[in-house]
Amino acid sequence: MKAIVLAGGSGTRLRPITHTQAKQLVPVANKPVLFYGLEAIAQAGVREVGIIVGDTQAEIEAAVGDGSAFGIDVTYLRQEAPLGLAHAVLIARDFLGDDDFVMYLGDNFIVGGIDDIVATFTAQRPDAQIMLTKVPDPRQFGVAELDTDGRVVRLEEKPKEPKSDLALVGVYLFTKAVHEAVARLEPSWRGELEITEAIQWLLDAGLRVDSTVISGYWKDTGNVSDMLEVNRLVLESIESRGHVDESSEIIGRVVVEDGAMITGSRIVGPAIIGAGSVIRDSYIGPFTSIADDCHVIGSEIEYSIVLREASIVGVGRIEASLIGRGVEVTPAAHAPRAHRLVLGDHSKVQISS
Ligand code: DAU
Repeated sequence: MKAIVLAGGSGTRLRPITHTQAKQLVPVANKPVLFYGLEAIAQAGVREVGIIVGDTQAEIEAAVGDGSAFGIDVTYLRQEAPLGLAHAVLIARDFLGDDDFVMYLGDNFIVGGIDDIVATFTAQRPDAQIMLTKVPDPRQFGVAELDTDGRVVRLEEKPKEPKSDLALVGVYLFTKAVHEAVARLEPSWRGELEITEAIQWLLDAGLRVDSTVISGYWKDTGNVSDMLEVNRLVLESIESRGHVDESSEIIGRVVVEDGAMITGSRIVGPAIIGAGSVIRDSYIGPFTSIADDCHVIGSEIEYSIVLREASIVGVGRIEASLIGRGVEVTPAAHAPRAHRLVLGDHSKVQISS
């Protein structure tokens, strides 16, 4: 069994962060989202991994290297343009040979790894195996229609009128049968070779496509709110580490990496503060990841991700935000401030001045 991990693409929904950075490298609890996928693949016992890369190849290579840090052996497969998920299979043909493989979308996040699905596939060996999960808005995904016995009958990519609420999760298992399907595809309305259509081709050819409906946690981290949710989820399970000076207060589980300096601040976990970061006279609230070498001075932030070398100085509450590398956030000069109040008789209010 081999694996291909898709880390090309353009990441339009995470702009402007992805103008300068691969979306798969945006950190969740201070670790790139791609790394969680590579760890899941290694954990499932797959060693030979092809990573599909596009314009951000150099950055992905610098982060992942030869894969030895993950216990895998990585080959980089260059995709000239993001021509679709099935196009990635096409260009990986030589790397894959006739082996079975896992295809893992590099911006997907699955709690609990892929051990179970890999074991099921290996034991039963259908022509392809997909994972499905219920989503509130299926129109943004590949959608599966099942018959009364729970077998997949039809798949549709980003349908305007979805036939079910079961979305395709971005982890697929294939035998070499998929190569013929992929070779026959034409570009879809969005100009891409769709893996969803390749799987439909397998169904139409009478081949066996098994599906598992997962109820565990899954997210496509393609947009900011999903990214923040995944960050929240990972932080939920961190264990406290590191320490702060006496002028600071820590509540709940907080990771303070070596070399982070925290003074006169209050940190309410779960939260993580990266190495070399300076937090002074500030409040860091729950579900916040501050990467390495950041400055948060005289500010308040919660439920947010801050990438490395960013500085936030002298600003009031920041919430639900994704702040890029080297960003500077400062207060506007002479910003007018007003509170608009309708207060009943004898009310007592506390207003920050
Ligand atoms: O996340 C699950 C969904 O992923 C499925 O439900 C859909 O059926 C499937 O088509 C896919 O939809 P997206 O539109 O979200 O895929 P996206 O373009 O975001 O690409 C997924 C990953 O693959 C991402 O890490 C970028 C990478 N990629 C994408 C394309 C189109 C490549 O490496 N090469 C490509 O050509």
